[in-house]
Amino acid sequence: MPATTLPRPDRFLLAGVMGWPVMHSRSPTLHNYWFAHYGLTGTYVPLAIAPDRLRAALRALPALGFSGCNLTIPHKQAALAIVDRLDPLAQRMGAVNCIAVASDGSLEGYNFDAFGFIESVREAQPGWRAGSGAAVLIGAGGAARAVLVGLLEQGAREIRLINRTRARATALAGATGGPVSVFAWEERNAALAGAATLVNATSLGMSGEPGLDISLEKLPQNALVCDIVYVPRETGLLKEARLRGNPTVNGLGMLLHQARPAFHAWFGVMPSVSPELRALVESTL
Ligand code: ATR
Repeated sequence: MPATTLPRPDRFLLAGVMGWPVMHSRSPTLHNYWFAHYGLTGTYVPLAIAPDRLRAALRALPALGFSGCNLTIPHKQAALAIVDRLDPLAQRMGAVNCIAVASDGSLEGYNFDAFGFIESVREAQPGWRAGSGAAVLIGAGGAARAVLVGLLEQGAREIRLINRTRARATALAGATGGPVSVFAWEERNAALAGAATLVNATSLGMSGEPGLDISLEKLPQNALVCDIVYVPRETGLLKEARLRGNPTVNGLGMLLHQARPAFHAWFGVMPSVSPELRALVESTL
């Protein structure tokens, strides 16, 4: 995290999210809530930036007086080659979701998605420990990579990685290293035996998508079941897990918590996720 100075009242604080498209982003709702909540004068705007303009847009941030920005699809990987300094976690995740403008105008690349996932789990289940048992992770896209890095950073000792396209899971395990074993898609039911955590990091279960076809029969009843999906708030997977007694966490907390260190990196205040903020964001879904 960069050295931060307390906000100066004589400066209008600026940050935003660059995406293409970008209007679906909930980040303005979150950050603008925090500006008001902490009595800071500033704003957070959606910035529609076409892929071929990303470099120019990022390089313009210091001149415009922006403290930084978030990045969403399709910019997260492209920014790796643009920033002046890359945080080791962003490097491990192979993606940048937050840029902070340093006092000399240089750009620092971060990724707080893994932090967001871990914090959201901790918020929902304070006693949860990554190292307390095997984790089954389904998916091999960007979201899965963030969850995987989060679990590894927290000391997971066994991760069973499963993806429909096995080659992507193998490539992901190779990129992150650590105690990760790849299982075939057909082995997903059996792989749940003895697991302490199950995470769906695919888009399955999202509104408009088919559900994740999995049998929870072999999953211990005390295992934590997480879904990165948050529309709907309770996916078919989470409902089934809840009905058989498993604790569950949806993906909204990951979205809310990844924003906290970004706000801190830009403005020097580590904000918290209040029930009021959660309700506000839920009302936009
Ligand atoms: P993101 O970066 O948001 O994670 P992504 O890279 O498109 O998005 O990854 C989507 C994930 O959902 C992948 O793991 C994908 O599996 P494949 O790698 O086999 O494509 C998974 N996924 C999407 N639709 C799926 C389906 N119908 N059945 C199984 N997995 C699916």
